[in-house]
Amino acid sequence: MKPNSIRDMQQALVERFGEDFEIPLSDEAADRLSCLAGHRVHRDFLDRAVDPELLRVLCACAMSAPSKSDLQQRDIVIIQDPDLRRRIGALMPQYPWVLTAPAMVIFCLNGRRLPQIAEWRGKPFPNDHCDLLFNAVGDAAIALAWFQASVDMAGLGGCPVSEIRNHAELISEWLELPEKVAPYAGFCLGWPSENGHITPRLPLSVNVHTDRFADGHARQDIEAYDCRREALQPARRQRDPDVWGNAEAYGWSEDKARQYAVPLRTAFGAYLRRQKFDLT
Ligand SMILES: Cc1cc2nc3c(=O)[nH]c(=O)nc-3n(C[C@H](O)[C@H](O)[C@H](O)COP(=O)(O)O)c2cc1C
Repeated sequence: MKPNSIRDMQQALVERFGEDFEIPLSDEAADRLSCLAGHRVHRDFLDRAVDPELLRVLCACAMSAPSKSDLQQRDIVIIQDPDLRRRIGALMPQYPWVLTAPAMVIFCLNGRRLPQIAEWRGKPFPNDHCDLLFNAVGDAAIALAWFQASVDMAGLGGCPVSEIRNHAELISEWLELPEKVAPYAGFCLGWPSENGHITPRLPLSVNVHTDRFADGHARQDIEAYDCRREALQPARRQRDPDVWGNAEAYGWSEDKARQYAVPLRTAFGAYLRRQKFDLT
């Protein structure tokens, strides 16, 4: 255990939220939580392999995550074949680390197993509707988050890759995903080559509510967050300046508004229907 875990955690949370937190925990408990509070994405890796046994342990930790009704509607595909990795990497040249990261896995949502076991057990399955998809997405997302936490805690680093959903048809074909199984996100990992940095998040005043949802002050709080974030980590470049010009102040909300000002993944619903997910 590090000697000043509470102080370290306070420091991480100040960087993250711009707010001082009291931490009513023992140093030992703060030490365990500090990895979550100090999480940072990693996209640069040392030229050092990830032991396949370690990767299996990380998958086991991810699959130890809670699962809705213990339904376990998520799967992980380990990408081991160098040619398959090359093909996946070639789909997203804007992310060169997808090609070069020492290891890659893909998290999938699985709406197949439940109807399958219903059939095996001679039972009806009157639940082939949107909730099946919703539960499976939740399970896949939780497992991915557990995987990220496990990677961080083990001293490795990594980055999820939802970009694979822009190529869902091809990825499904290459991974031979059957009906009712779809990719949620990839995850590239390795031994980080640098410390990375804490990404500031929206203050809890925006997204943590008590008793009732209240976002009346969201705009002013988000504008303050924009200023804090821009001062700490100014954007390396502005998005689509040819369309939106060069903004004098370019905070998180301007960046996200620009990002979502163009249609993204509009064919994904049709893909899910082709994978035989019923969205009704
Ligand atoms: C489901 C999911 C999908 C993501 N997909 C991508 C991606 O395709 N490309 C990428 O560079 N980062 C991706 N990320 C990483 C986020 O950009 C990153 O978490 C975010 O910038 C915040 O940084 P932090 O994780 O260090 O707090 C993804 C993260 C999540 C949770």
